[in-house]
Order: sequence, then C-alpha cells, then structure tokens
Amino acid sequence: MTATKSDIADPGLASAGEARIRWAAGQMPVLARIRARFASERPLEGCRIAVCLHVTAETANLMRCLGEGGARAALCAANPLSTQDDVAAALAQEIEVHALFGEDLDTYARHVGALVAGRPHVTIDDGADLLTVLHAAGDAGLDGVTGGTEETTTGLLRLRALEAEGGLRCPVMAVNESRTERTFNDRYGTGQSALDGILRATNLLLAGHTLVLFGYGMTGKGIAQRARGAGAAVIVCEV
Ligand SMILES: NC(=O)c1ccc[n+]([C@@H]2O[C@H](COP(=O)([O-])OP(=O)(O)OC[C@H]3O[C@@H](n4cnc5c(N)ncnc54)[C@H](O)[C@@H]3O)[C@@H](O)[C@H]2O)c1
Repeated sequence: MTATKSDIADPGLASAGEARIRWAAGQMPVLARIRARFASERPLEGCRIAVCLHVTAETANLMRCLGEGGARAALCAANPLSTQDDVAAALAQEIEVHALFGEDLDTYARHVGALVAGRPHVTIDDGADLLTVLHAAGDAGLDGVTGGTEETTTGLLRLRALEAEGGLRCPVMAVNESRTERTFNDRYGTGQSALDGILRATNLLLAGHTLVLFGYGMTGKGIAQRARGAGAAVIVCEV
C-alpha cells in the first residue's frame, strides 16, 4: 500500500522499483554493514529525518538503512530529472515519498514544504533547500532541528553565506568536503558519469578524439583518467 501522504507517479511501478533497489543493495556493502548494526542498536529511534536527495535506487537503500536505525524518514527529490518513478513507487509502500520525474518548480516547492511540515529533527540536503525553507520559517521551522548534512558545493555556498550574515542556526556537516565524497563521488563517480553523459549525447568513439578539460581537481582527474583509458588524447587547462 502507498503511504497516503506520498506524491508519486504510479504505485503500479513498485515491483520494478523493488528489483532495481535490490540490485543496487548488492553493490553497497558498506551500507549493508551499517544497516545490520542499525538494526541491533537502533541509534535513530524516534528521530524524524527529512531527506532531499536524488530519488534513485541507491538513495532508497539509504532510506531503508535510516528506517532500520529507528528513524521516521521522508524523502523528496532534489533533482526532477534523476527521479526513478519505479523506485519512488517501491519506497512509498514503506515511507512518505514526494517525487515525480520531471516535476516543475511549483511541485518541487510543494514537496519540500511537505517534508518541512513533518517537523524534522535532522535534514539531509542536496542543495540546501530543506534548511533554507526551515530557516525562512524562523523559530517555528527550526524548533527541534538538531542539524543537517549538505552534499553539494552549491548548497555549502548558500549555507556559508547564511552563516556569514549570522543567520545559520543549526550545525551542518559538509559532506561534500569529506575525503570519501571527494574520492568516490567526484573522482570515480562523476569521473565516470560525466563521460557517460557525453557519450550518450554524442555517440562518439573516444579513441582518436582529443578531450580538453578545464580544471584538474578531483573531478577533472577522474574524467582525464577514464578518457585516456578509452583511447582519447587529453589536454588539461589549469590555473
Ligand atoms: N554533477 C556532479 O555530480 C558534480 C560532482 C562533482 C563536481 N561537480 C562540478 O565539477 C566542477 C569541478 O569540481 P571539483 O570537485 O573537481 O573541483 P576542484 O576544486 O577539486 O577542482 C577545480 C579545479 O579547477 C581549477 N580552475 C579554477 N578555475 C579555472 C579556470 N578558469 N581555468 C582552468 N582551471 C580552473 C582549480 O584550480 C581546481 O584545480 C565543479 O563545477 C563542481 O560543481 C559536479
């Protein structure tokens, strides 16, 4: 049964979504270990967590992990174009999910608002929208908020600007700056997915082409390494 508060495209997609979530779970051994520990220790018992991330099979496994730890977690989509409607349908059988592939800005704002209305203790953000809306609501929004996490460079810029003007009223973990994130997400993850996007859009054979990269940070290094491996010549421009 779909949670009554959820807003998803089609509950009938749940079994396809479940298959996708299980496949991803098999690729996530660290999360599996945390989940097993959470199941016995229940460290998040009674904690309400609002989660605004990409609604994908991987996030679905994170949501189940939080639930295993005792949390009541609700999810909305940080990016309308990455939402997997079948995954949203599967998750909505267990928890509150607000996510529709291709949703417009008004729908997105409504979905963020629905999570904020759930009075979270903790936020998990990808762009700082949950914390921004909670701060905009003042005392009423922030009462009971212990803190949050932020995954993106852009979100951290927003939150640091808020902090600089004295407005940030809860601690935030800068997940984006952890070594694990920098290595696995930026170097290996984005290093692969950026090339994947270019190849899907252009259908090019990398071998024999020259790739020019502006910036040789974590992401640039990851892309350069993979493009070279596929036979491209790589030129890096760095300041
Ligand atoms: N979509 C995603 O999932 C995703 C993930 C990670 C990073 N990103 C984006 O990729 C970009 C790079 O991120 P990163 O984590 O590798 O950053 P980084 O800070 O590790 O590296 C950026 C590099 O660019 C160089 N640089 C800055 N200005 C330059 C210029 N004008 N010309 C040439 N080089 C210049 C810097 O010296 C630095 O070495 C950012 O825009 C980031 O937001 C996207």
